[in-house]
Amino acid sequence: MQKYYKIITFGCQMNVHESEKLAGTLERLGYKSTEDDEKADVVVFNTCCVREAAENKALGNIGKFKPIKKQKKDLIIAVCGCMAQQEKKAQEIYTKYPFVNIIFGTHNSYKFEEYLTDVLNKKIKRVYQIVKEEPCLPLEVESYRTSGVNAWVNIMYGCNNFCTYCIVPYVRGREKSRPMEEIVAECKALIAAGYKEITLLGQNVNSYGKTFNNGKDNFAELLEEIDKIDGEYVIKFLTSHPKDLSEKVVKAIANSKHISHMIHLPVQCGSDRLLRLMNRNYTVEKYLNTIDMIKKYIPDVNLSTDIIVGFPTETDEDFEDTLTLLKKVQYNTVFGFIYSKRSGTPAAKMDGQVPMAVKRERVNKLLALQREIEKVKLTRFLGQTIKVLLTERKEGKVFGKTDCGINVIVENVKEFKVDFVNVKINQIKNTKLIGEIV
Ligand code: 5AD
Ligand code: SF4
Repeated sequence: MQKYYKIITFGCQMNVHESEKLAGTLERLGYKSTEDDEKADVVVFNTCCVREAAENKALGNIGKFKPIKKQKKDLIIAVCGCMAQQEKKAQEIYTKYPFVNIIFGTHNSYKFEEYLTDVLNKKIKRVYQIVKEEPCLPLEVESYRTSGVNAWVNIMYGCNNFCTYCIVPYVRGREKSRPMEEIVAECKALIAAGYKEITLLGQNVNSYGKTFNNGKDNFAELLEEIDKIDGEYVIKFLTSHPKDLSEKVVKAIANSKHISHMIHLPVQCGSDRLLRLMNRNYTVEKYLNTIDMIKKYIPDVNLSTDIIVGFPTETDEDFEDTLTLLKKVQYNTVFGFIYSKRSGTPAAKMDGQVPMAVKRERVNKLLALQREIEKVKLTRFLGQTIKVLLTERKEGKVFGKTDCGINVIVENVKEFKVDFVNVKINQIKNTKLIGEIV
């Protein structure tokens, strides 16, 4: 009889791709994917802990499976990922949710197959495996890809930066880069298989290579090597730390055939005092110089950023500085987050925590300003013809995106096919461009 699995993913693109690896294991074991809670024989929660809300959402969702498990005794429930990597949280899951069969963290997720078969073969009743990181790269597990035209490729794991608000370095361990030949070979195979977009993943892609290259980063070289692969495709990457984004990398993007003119450069805030408290290792002036350098080489760059509002001691003036920075840079997209206290991080112990009501008000103000900036920015596309990658047809509408990641709705498409087309932009609606194929 056909067996089914459901994977519920929280958090960032890194986790989305990690879930594709878990799916790869399940598909290899003969399972098929389902969205239906009641139909699944294996349910996996791949969790996030970057903000408290993500943890609470995951815990609430796991709780919902208690009655289902009562009905279906041999249902297997697994919890893994960043939240589970925290020993205290893992213990809490183990004791509060006795119906969860398998708990494991980020460092041993490649062992999912072993844990699952042990439980299936009734060798072990419950698996609890939270381990310390090993000094080597994790074994690569083959993915079952689910993200349409885009394929994710890990280029490195972990983070060495220890921004004072962030829990990632504690749950993902130290930076480890994959060998360049291995990454280039993976990209080649994906392009040959028909993927039109590849997104390179790392917590800080700009320090790619440092861990095996005598302390020298060589992200620019990696981009140049991938760019040499024949075919029609776009390469994107996430995430860049402003302190490490070099002129060499920007030049490599500017001179490339396939690398997207989209750069996500999280600034976090516009106040030097807070940047210091956050341990970000740059000033507003230095960040703006980097932005100027990028705009010099890539005039049509599409910039996006992450902002945290309500970091401990943030004053109205600090927040105004952040708004000023947004006006200066003119991002295409801003991801605004309310600061969330993460236990074990230095910022959690800082005095001057900002009340929730103030944080909410600030994030709303930030996003409202950004909406205005975005609307004005998009008007430059009106009447222009631009290259668009058609990505999907949904509810009668065809969606696509430009090389630099701007969303486009394409009207009057007769035959939909994932492909690059030229689109004339006629309208702008809620930060989406609308046009027709020419
Ligand atoms: N609270 C709120 N946002 C956070 N981020 C990281 N840690 C926290 C936290 N404790 C945000 C940062 C980062 C993004 C992925 O998540 O802006 O760039
Ligand atoms: Fe967290 Fe900073 Fe590392 Fe990004 S660079 S993952 S914000 S510690």
